[in-house]
Amino acid sequence: MSGFAADWLALREPVDHASRNPTLAARMRAHFAGRDALTIVDLGCGTGSNLRGLAGDLPPRQHWHLIDGDAALLKRAREDLAAWAERAEPAGERLVLHRDGRVIEVSFERADLTVRDLDFTDVGAELVTAAALFDLVSEDWLERLVARLVARKLPIYAVLNYDGEAEWQPAEPLDGRVIAAFNRHQRGDKGFGPALGPASSEALAQLLRQHGYTYGSFTSPWVLGPAHAALIGALTNGFAQAAGEIEPARKAEFAAWARARAAAEKVTIGHRDVFGHA
Ligand SMILES: C[S@@+](CC[C@H](N)C(=O)[O-])C[C@H]1O[C@@H](n2cnc3c(N)ncnc32)[C@H](O)[C@@H]1O
Repeated sequence: MSGFAADWLALREPVDHASRNPTLAARMRAHFAGRDALTIVDLGCGTGSNLRGLAGDLPPRQHWHLIDGDAALLKRAREDLAAWAERAEPAGERLVLHRDGRVIEVSFERADLTVRDLDFTDVGAELVTAAALFDLVSEDWLERLVARLVARKLPIYAVLNYDGEAEWQPAEPLDGRVIAAFNRHQRGDKGFGPALGPASSEALAQLLRQHGYTYGSFTSPWVLGPAHAALIGALTNGFAQAAGEIEPARKAEFAAWARARAAAEKVTIGHRDVFGHA
């Protein structure tokens, strides 16, 4: 288990899809326009949300290679993708999906990205993508990944990286303290070494710039209201729990904060999307 519950990923999926930056998505679409087929590698795929969010922007024939360290999430990805498709056919270990006139072949790999070779030519990658992953990774790991991408001139599309901006409205005095502690927690080790957390998009952009890539980095915030009560409740709890690990003496105070703030009228959680190509 990775600690990322399938239910949490399901709760955020529609908001994630709606929050992707449309200008950057259009650039990515234009980059591959006119192609008939594309092979995409999705890092930290979870239950396959990134595929479901992106497939409509990519060529008619797609091969997705989904990588995650969590076997239970990969199993769930297979089930959820089959349910999402108009038609799904198993092809050995793979799955062939038909949806909106597209034919999408999916392969699944259980691997720990901290030790796996990051040269994805072994699976024919033409685009490397990740959703809600890069805030977990370390600077060292990101440098290694970008070095491998650059060596193969591979494009990268990394979406929904938390950027440290969070706001509950109407504001209350404890909000700032919880957010500051949560952002410190984000820099802790999430398996890759000290995490980039809110700095991940800027770090990726800087590496792409250094290597002469053309890139864009645009905001993709969650803007949540009364229709998203369940997601607001879950994320508010998550903020309080993480903040309580940083400031244990305030655990009870932060838990009380979460109970009250779950009823906020509007919550904004900042993210950024980055697309870069040689
Ligand atoms: C926040 S979730 C995002 C999942 C999915 N991309 C989405 O948008 O719903 C992060 C994912 O990265 C995976 N992950 C975290 N560390 C990993 C590692 N070292 N190797 C492989 N996968 C990892 C987790 O299992 C989880 O599925």
